[in-house]
Amino acid sequence: MHLTEQETAWLAGDAGPAIRRAMEIVVALGKIYGAERLIPVASVQISGVSYRNIGASGLDFLRRWAEEDARVRIPTTLNPTAMDMAAWRAQGFDPAFAAKQQEVVEVFARMGVGGGRPIPTCTPYLIGNVPAPGEHIAWAESSAVSYANSVLGARTNREGGPGAIAAALTGRTGAYGLHLDAARRATLRVEVTAPLHSIPDFSALGAIVGRAASKRVPYFEGLPLARGDDLWQEKLKALGAAMAATGAVALYHVAGVTPEAATPAILAPEHETCVVDDLTPGYALLNDATASVDLVWIGCPHASPAEIALAAEAVRGHRLRAPLWITCARPIKDAAAAQGLAAEIEAAGGRIIADACMAIAPVKDLGFQCVATPSAKGAFYLRNLAGVAAHFGTLEQCIAAALTGEW
Ligand code: F3S
Repeated sequence: MHLTEQETAWLAGDAGPAIRRAMEIVVALGKIYGAERLIPVASVQISGVSYRNIGASGLDFLRRWAEEDARVRIPTTLNPTAMDMAAWRAQGFDPAFAAKQQEVVEVFARMGVGGGRPIPTCTPYLIGNVPAPGEHIAWAESSAVSYANSVLGARTNREGGPGAIAAALTGRTGAYGLHLDAARRATLRVEVTAPLHSIPDFSALGAIVGRAASKRVPYFEGLPLARGDDLWQEKLKALGAAMAATGAVALYHVAGVTPEAATPAILAPEHETCVVDDLTPGYALLNDATASVDLVWIGCPHASPAEIALAAEAVRGHRLRAPLWITCARPIKDAAAAQGLAAEIEAAGGRIIADACMAIAPVKDLGFQCVATPSAKGAFYLRNLAGVAAHFGTLEQCIAAALTGEW
């Protein structure tokens, strides 16, 4: 691999042990994936923030790096934590767990993540971290990677936790995979004839196509969506998140909508074609037999202001039996409070939760056994990471479950 003079010096330890370790990781990853050189990246998004997931050894690893004076050199944002960093008591978290979770975020803050005041979220593009088309970035959260690549036209592989930190400390990543034109061509043409209306419909479509695509790059035709339509970004956010969960899709194109769809020869000649004429299998894929629902979760990926407004409208005048938690970035929670939406949701018995993701929270320890959500990705990870039963359905089905406590 060709390294610049400065990169070679960093690798030799000239800039201290933290940068040397980061360079070792960046170079090792680049070699594994066949990169011929490193490229500068404009921003980083770090995953592996939940203390439930990283545990004591992960926290030690971060502490050691911070003690070596590791500092990020480019704008860097943080994935969600397990809990609302300000309102964790009301969520029922154990103080010992909360202290560890707070320390994880403090260590990242010491490294300069979020300018020293990180805002944990999986939708950094909703709070100002919006990469430009063609810009190279190193993001880790799979739904954000999909959104950045597909909807914004930026270029990122899906970084692992340590790889993203290493990219933030060096401002570099290997020039391989989705940073290069060749890997951005579509290899699966998806003809959509099923009617799609709501955001969860796009999530159900993503659940189906993710399974069919695995690591391939889908090219959608027939989607009833135009840039600038009501909720078009939310629908694509849901589509990409679901494909990243049931498959490993990190980039997709939508004819007439996403920026690279019109690139000549974007559809590889050797592509295969599949047709989706029914969303029922997508909804059915992620439903357990458990009938009683003890939590309804909206906000996977983190909710936009429009999604919070939809939820507030759906619960207006109702009294929920099961708790309803809506997760989002803190500035979006604050805006919802200022607009009176948070009060409406609370009047119905719901709550807006900043910073957190329920899929990486100790959901069982909080007393929940079965969670309903209008997100295919949410249901997928509730089952596979949080280890609880899940239901995936429309917003109406989820609100009905919150009203009755039954699916
Ligand atoms: Fe975000 Fe968690 Fe869903 S990180 S995309 S809310 S699984």
